[in-house]
Amino acid sequence: MSSRIAVRVEGVTFLYDQEPILEGIDATIYEGEFIAIIGPNGGGKSTFLKLLLGLLEPTQGRIEIFGLPPAKAGGLIGYTPQHLHHNLEMPLRVIDVVLQGRLGPWKFGFTQEDYAIAHQALQRLGIPHLASQPIAQLSGGQRQRTLIARALATQPKLLVLDEPTAAIDIQGQRHIYQLLKELSITRIVVSHDIKILLEGVDRVFYINKELYIHRNVSVDLDPSGHFCEMELLEELGRSNG
Ligand SMILES: Nc1ncnc2c1ncn2[C@@H]1O[C@H](COP(=O)(O)OP(=O)(O)O)[C@@H](O)[C@H]1O
Ligand SMILES: [Mg+2]
Repeated sequence: MSSRIAVRVEGVTFLYDQEPILEGIDATIYEGEFIAIIGPNGGGKSTFLKLLLGLLEPTQGRIEIFGLPPAKAGGLIGYTPQHLHHNLEMPLRVIDVVLQGRLGPWKFGFTQEDYAIAHQALQRLGIPHLASQPIAQLSGGQRQRTLIARALATQPKLLVLDEPTAAIDIQGQRHIYQLLKELSITRIVVSHDIKILLEGVDRVFYINKELYIHRNVSVDLDPSGHFCEMELLEELGRSNG
């Protein structure tokens, strides 16, 4: 992990209709870090990501992505949103979706290099054999991998994933997190699947209007797989820093 700063958030507050959603957020994320964001529903996790992406503007405070304002850093970020409205009626193949990551404001056709990069991204996600499959025929896990491959095809310096494994079976989740762990770029991943996610991350951000940052600890809970967020937070609290 380098000591160069990927994301700097200073005194950020965000209101929706006068209602504070995020308050006094300070955070520094270093290049190459793998950050997990956890917290209750409605706690502001997706809003935090949208601020990093420049899709929303802080009401107060400042954000820099690799030294740039978020609105100018879009080309450096690969993102998969929490809610996707992919039109499954469209006859898109997996490779077409991944190639969308190679499009730019002034770029419409694809070069040989674009195809090579898209195929490499599919390889990375372990689904090169699905390249010609219509996306409508994919399982939830395969579709999610396709979207992560699309984000990687942009060759981002920062990967931002909002609940990438919602609605995927445990084995599929584990596999995706394993893949994420092997990447060397900066990664920020929101997840409910905390126990699995924590196996690979450097730090945990707990967001519930305010931000609490924890170093990761190996969490060894009930072997039955029973998981309780409160226990985890107590455990993390002991290693605050
Ligand atoms: N477009 C919006 N307009 C008004 N309130 C919103 C909007 N989007 C989200 N919110 C509110 O902001 C809060 C945080 O939402 P969100 O960031 O999606 O939380 P999380 O991702 O942690 O579940 C919630 O109370 C939600 O209702
Ligand atoms: Mg969310």
